[in-house]
Amino acid sequence: MANLLFEILEILADGKFHSGEMMAKHFNVSRVSIWNAIAKAEDVGVKIFSVRGKGYKLQQPISLLNEKIIQNAMGEEGSWFNIKVLDSVESTNSYLSKVASSGYPHASVIAANIQTQGKGRRGRQWQSALGESLTFSFLWRFTHGAAGLSGLSLAVGVALIRALKKINISTALLKWPNDILIFDEGVHKKLAGILIELQGDTDGQSAAIIGIGLNLNISKTQLEKIDQPATDIHNLLSETIDSNFFMAVIIKELAQVLALFETEQFKPFRDEWLSYHAFQDKLINIMLGNSQTITGKAIDISDTGALVVSTNEGPKSFASGEVSIRSAG
Ligand code: BTN
Repeated sequence: MANLLFEILEILADGKFHSGEMMAKHFNVSRVSIWNAIAKAEDVGVKIFSVRGKGYKLQQPISLLNEKIIQNAMGEEGSWFNIKVLDSVESTNSYLSKVASSGYPHASVIAANIQTQGKGRRGRQWQSALGESLTFSFLWRFTHGAAGLSGLSLAVGVALIRALKKINISTALLKWPNDILIFDEGVHKKLAGILIELQGDTDGQSAAIIGIGLNLNISKTQLEKIDQPATDIHNLLSETIDSNFFMAVIIKELAQVLALFETEQFKPFRDEWLSYHAFQDKLINIMLGNSQTITGKAIDISDTGALVVSTNEGPKSFASGEVSIRSAG
């Protein structure tokens, strides 16, 4: 039944009305089967409107992810990657973590049309809904251990900035370590987030599960659930972006960045990262794991991706922490 629901969603994706009778004929099932499948939509957070005499429709047109379309959009390079789109999953990171530990191939991508329990950094939730954001995870196996991967999340941020530029968004900024922000109406709004989970030895081989959530066209309902200012691609572009094409662009940029990171780590990305630093030379608070908060000016990023802050006690480097801006500085 889950499959029938997604087949129905493919028809409803155009945002127009479709009658139950037509869909029943199309799939060669009874109208009750259509009704039953549609009744399951709410379980995965999808609202389908039904109007007597007209049929069923979604609130707005959506573009569903499809692995074949992504692969084709990547051209020849498509065959280098193992791309899988799931209709619905709790978390693409959790799914990929599980299969990665039993030998899932390098350069795999797991994307979801619906993610029901998306994980954010620091134990937060990542909110998303059908067609409103890209939610996917990328598996990259490194020959060096997790100890050599500091700065990886910052390099991934650079890949996302490059991908956004390819679709004509050049106003994106980076918040250390790796949020993608847009400065809009005097506020930094989050466009995308990155959650990296590592597997393997500190100095042997390792695997990175690189989870990305990127807002495409978030509804008011979704926006209200997000605990910080947020924006989406729809707000930034006059034309609608095809999500499969955009996925293809991101995968290519990510792979390029990860291949260079494999040999040279973060260093070659440092200057580029700094050029997009949202809080460069600004007064910030950095909250550390022990709940201690340090105040100072964000002045630099080290070759390993640590944030360098000028404090009353001199410059200090931080490998982790939660940054917030204190003033326009
Ligand atoms: C953050 O900014 O807190 C990181 C958000 C990362 C969300 C993505 S969505 C796809 C992948 N699967 C998850 O469960 N989380 C990441």
